[in-house]
Amino acid sequence: MKVLVIGAGNMGLTYAEAMSRSKLLKKRNVMILDNSPEKILSLEKISHFDVFKDMEDCLPQADLVFIAVKPYHSANLFAKMKPLLNQGQVIISIMAGITIKTMKEALGIDKVVRAMPNLPAQVGKGITSYMTSDEISRIELLTVENLLDTTGKSIRVQSENYIDASTGISGSGPAYVFYFMHSMMEAALKMGFSKIDSKVLVSQTFEGAVELFNQSDLSPNSWMDKVASKGGTTRAALDSMDDNNVKELIEEAAYAAFNRAVELGKEI
Ligand SMILES: NC(=O)c1ccc[n+]([C@@H]2O[C@H](COP(=O)([O-])OP(=O)(O)OC[C@H]3O[C@@H](n4cnc5c(N)ncnc54)[C@H](OP(=O)(O)O)[C@@H]3O)[C@@H](O)[C@H]2O)c1
Repeated sequence: MKVLVIGAGNMGLTYAEAMSRSKLLKKRNVMILDNSPEKILSLEKISHFDVFKDMEDCLPQADLVFIAVKPYHSANLFAKMKPLLNQGQVIISIMAGITIKTMKEALGIDKVVRAMPNLPAQVGKGITSYMTSDEISRIELLTVENLLDTTGKSIRVQSENYIDASTGISGSGPAYVFYFMHSMMEAALKMGFSKIDSKVLVSQTFEGAVELFNQSDLSPNSWMDKVASKGGTTRAALDSMDDNNVKELIEEAAYAAFNRAVELGKEI
């Protein structure tokens, strides 16, 4: 099987590298296409996959095509791709807001997957939600899932509404975590810790809490009850968050991202 990644940006390179490192594909069966000659030159020096700047040289030989360009480049890209595609090929797009229907119509092919990864894909800890068109076979579905999982984990959803919803949870979610980390580090600095100590106090707290959560069947609420004893320090902090409606504000923020994802889709 040959895979072509279109777009050698952050996400395209992440997937190209993850797929070429995985045992799913034979060496040199990952191709990458980008329209920037400078980027091609630097990639040719460092990369262990074949790099192309002309679509005619790589698209027809790809079994699976992974689109990782910005959504506003999609119309131009689809027009160039259409005459070179055949019905046997599978398209996976990670472009925010571009629907399965739009891709099928613009590309004139049926086997299409819409996926929404997130930034930790860069370190193999990503989470991708995805939906496939009905024409994707069971074996193709398995291949798609395995390829997406080279950057972490994935969930398959049955409606594109969930792709926009997952943008509000996992797509934009790393920034919410950074927001929380930043606030805790600021508090640590104000309490007198050095920058280095603030960083290690906060990052190890996050890593430890996530590890505890992952290694147990307990819900976040149960963990909070375990940590917070009546009249204690943690209870004082959690009560302060409840009094300030932090939970509702976080929910509101996630919905703001969800709604913006829907809006962006309509704008495109
Ligand atoms: N970053 C994330 O966390 C994240 C998460 C989920 C989904 N996504 C999606 O992933 C996609 C890629 O994001 P990114 O941050 O990796 O973008 P990026 O860094 O801008 O990379 C896109 C690359 O594609 C190239 N390109 C544009 N049009 C092309 C064409 N017609 N043929 C070949 N190459 C072309 C661009 O070249 P130029 O620079 O010359 O235009 C650029 O090198 C976006 O659609 C985004 O919605 C990103």
